[in-house]
Amino acid sequence: MKDLITLEEYIIQAQNKFPGATGELSQLLRDIGLAAKIISREVNKAGITNILGYEGSENVHGENVKKLDLFANEQLISALSRSNITCMVISEENEGIVRLSGEAGKYIVYMDPLDGSSNIDVSVSIGSIFSIYMRDDNNKKLSEEEALKPGTEQVAAGYVVYGSSTVLAYTTGMGVHLFTLDPSLGEFILNDSDVKIPEYGNIYSADEGSYNFWDPGLKKYVKYCQEIDADTQRPYKARYIGCMAADVHRTLLQGGIFMYPDSTKYPNGKLRLMYECNPLSFIIEQAGGLATDGNQRIMEIQPASLHECTPIYIGSKNNIEKFKEFFVEE
Ligand code: AHG
Ligand code: MN
Ligand code: MN
Repeated sequence: MKDLITLEEYIIQAQNKFPGATGELSQLLRDIGLAAKIISREVNKAGITNILGYEGSENVHGENVKKLDLFANEQLISALSRSNITCMVISEENEGIVRLSGEAGKYIVYMDPLDGSSNIDVSVSIGSIFSIYMRDDNNKKLSEEEALKPGTEQVAAGYVVYGSSTVLAYTTGMGVHLFTLDPSLGEFILNDSDVKIPEYGNIYSADEGSYNFWDPGLKKYVKYCQEIDADTQRPYKARYIGCMAADVHRTLLQGGIFMYPDSTKYPNGKLRLMYECNPLSFIIEQAGGLATDGNQRIMEIQPASLHECTPIYIGSKNNIEKFKEFFVEE
């Protein structure tokens, strides 16, 4: 039998490869792992504890906030407050920066505590997404501007998907490590320490109900996906969960392309650069895939505000390169 390696052990082993490491990033990742276990437990009993349904307030985007969104937000913020390593959190559920007690902490954490909220009430996959940056100067007063860094400066990122099982993937820029939660042990167990995305996949993923709001180039690309051609494994299959973390997780394992485009309905796309697109782009690039807004690499976008949106096309290298041929036609 293969030795079981837990998330905690794996993080420590990775840290030991760097003799000068302070262990703070390791601690931060372990804190997120703990919050993920608590959220997973709550997600699995959501129906029985009356936690389902709207909380009643709206979040910064004017969307109804569900109870689990707030529960996940609180759990993650409280986990990150434990060790004075994180100075501020930027969350989908909070308009401004959230200052943590350890203001001297050197890490800035962005997060989407609960991704895919519309799936909660129908027992379909949901997720959590996080993205970690290092402060420029620990002695400076905390400000929003300091948090506006391009995704290339992420020091770590990851996601959790609460699906048929709960999985956690993270990267610190040295490959993608994937874990599955064993509920009986209460531990995330290592699946794979260097996940690679297939170079090509025959799955496309988009909200095709919005087809009439799309640009002509994108419409043509989706028609290309649907054409019959055995050599390129077309027609592709269409899969769309409505939870970016889960859709990108499937794309990581099976290949293909996930798209949330700009459209006449969403002129800048709908997905958030800092806590949805950047972290998932970091994961997919580390696995050998690509992520673009159509014109530039997602991780090179210079953010102007904490909650800004971007169009995104993300997935297998060959699928994204093919997609770009249609995009430049415009
Ligand atoms: P959230 O639940 O954090 O608001 O995110 C939902 C996002 C994303 O995960 C998903 O891909 C997309 O919204 C679904 O949007 P549509 O309902 O427009 O397809
Ligand atoms: Mn989301
Ligand atoms: Mn969310």
